[in-house]
Amino acid sequence: MYFRDLVKNRILIIGANGMLGQCCVDFYSNSNNKFELLSLSIEDQPVFNDVDYIPCDITNREQVKKIVYDFCPDYIVNAAAFTNVDKSETEREQAWKVNVKAVEYIAEAARVIDAHLIHISSDYIFNGKNGPYSENTIPNPIGYYGRTKLASENALKISGAIYTILRTNVLYGTAPDSRPDFVKWVVESLRNKKNIRTVIDQINNPTFIDDLVQAISKIIEFGRTGIYHIGGREFLSRFDFTNIIADYFHLDKSLVTPITTEELNQRAKRPLKSGLITLKAETELGYKPHLIPEALEEMKRELVL
Ligand SMILES: NC(=O)c1ccc[n+]([C@@H]2O[C@H](COP(=O)([O-])OP(=O)(O)OC[C@H]3O[C@@H](n4cnc5c(N)ncnc54)[C@H](OP(=O)(O)O)[C@@H]3O)[C@@H](O)[C@H]2O)c1
Repeated sequence: MYFRDLVKNRILIIGANGMLGQCCVDFYSNSNNKFELLSLSIEDQPVFNDVDYIPCDITNREQVKKIVYDFCPDYIVNAAAFTNVDKSETEREQAWKVNVKAVEYIAEAARVIDAHLIHISSDYIFNGKNGPYSENTIPNPIGYYGRTKLASENALKISGAIYTILRTNVLYGTAPDSRPDFVKWVVESLRNKKNIRTVIDQINNPTFIDDLVQAISKIIEFGRTGIYHIGGREFLSRFDFTNIIADYFHLDKSLVTPITTEELNQRAKRPLKSGLITLKAETELGYKPHLIPEALEEMKRELVL
């Protein structure tokens, strides 16, 4: 055995109780003892009781600095965010604090100790007029949430920290204790014979969370920095996604009505023709996302559905 095999890298997962955060904690707490893990989220209690956890509001700069300096991680994954797109329009100050100011604080601390910060961004930085998008497309957000996510990217770019930005879209998958994802919502609604409406005019490539966790792990393995787009293989509307889910689980598709985004009358505008081209991640990281039926199979196997 080599000495390097005995040295564990330290990883700090921020937003550990969120959907992606939980999946990251699950992955790194089962990583053959290669990582020493500290998880952090705003709630008093962790979702996973058997991992080290610190409650922290990341908009508190001093607390963020203290935790980062005390633990001295090699890697920081920031999966925390103010993710409610409609509320971001009305609770602008809080959305900015969490999605931009807190990212500045994390990056500031990461820079001091040379930690590699992996930050999650969104296709909502684009206007949705001519997607799918590559990493080189110039962003132009149409809502406040997208503006905060773009500002978070810009904050990282000028921070002097070692950083990677992973932009993703429509996350679905299994997290033990979080709000139901799109797949679970469709399955549970149709199983309960509930009529649902899904939009025909929002196109993107939904991302299986396990694929995003794999991408994070590849970023760490290959020490890659910069911007990468992470999404699924299929570009489709939410209505077509619903039908694939219904077919896979043998559910009644007649309960699903196609509607337009306009009919939903949501507070925030949505990018319609969106989606993320993942060629760079496939080429440089060996990123190989699941097909939707393969991902649904995994979700079924994990006995969540
Ligand atoms: N979900 C998607 O479809 C999607 C699509 C594109 C990009 N993304 C990006 O992917 C990342 C992960 O998304 P997700 O769906 O896993 O989000 P999520 O489930 O909403 O998790 C975010 C976590 O951050 C926590 N948090 C919020 N404010 C905080 C604060 N001040 N201090 C500490 N923790 C705080 C939240 O706690 P509370 O729940 O208690 O507020 C929650 O546990 C985000 O950056 C998001 O913008 C997500």
